[in-house]
Amino acid sequence: MEAIRVVLFVCHFTALAVLLCGLVAGRDPLAKASVAVLGAAAAMLVTGVLLVVVQVARDLPVNGPKVAVKAGLAVAVLGCALWARRSARDGGPRLWAGGLTIANAVVAMAWN
Ligand code: HEM
Repeated sequence: MEAIRVVLFVCHFTALAVLLCGLVAGRDPLAKASVAVLGAAAAMLVTGVLLVVVQVARDLPVNGPKVAVKAGLAVAVLGCALWARRSARDGGPRLWAGGLTIANAVVAMAWN
């Protein structure tokens, strides 16, 4: 079970790196978001939920309110990534996706 947790954790962080890099990469900051950004946003959500499942399976305590806030923010990030994929020439959704991702990382680190 610990090995599964480590693999999921690495995937969680890899998705975070791909998401943030994908949002700032590219010569045109107003271009459509890439498929990688979309996939990474979905992967954050999926690996996050699976990390919680592993915690429950190990009978470890789960911080319910924190998980709910993280899940809500992750869904919002995925929505913004979809929006950024569809609307070229509009930097708004890309900025929202990046800002909410950083907000979620702050929640993850600062809320114990
Ligand atoms: C944009 C979305 C997300 C970002 C930026 C993010 C960021 C992070 C970061 C920086 C950590 C490491 C700090 C820590 O251990 O607390 C972490 C861990 C964790 N995240 Fe996320 N997260 C996201 C989505 C989610 C979602 C949707 C869930 C669950 C519904 C989730 C559940 C977890 C859990 C359970 C851990 C702790 C893993 C462990 O220590 O074994 N995350 N996340």
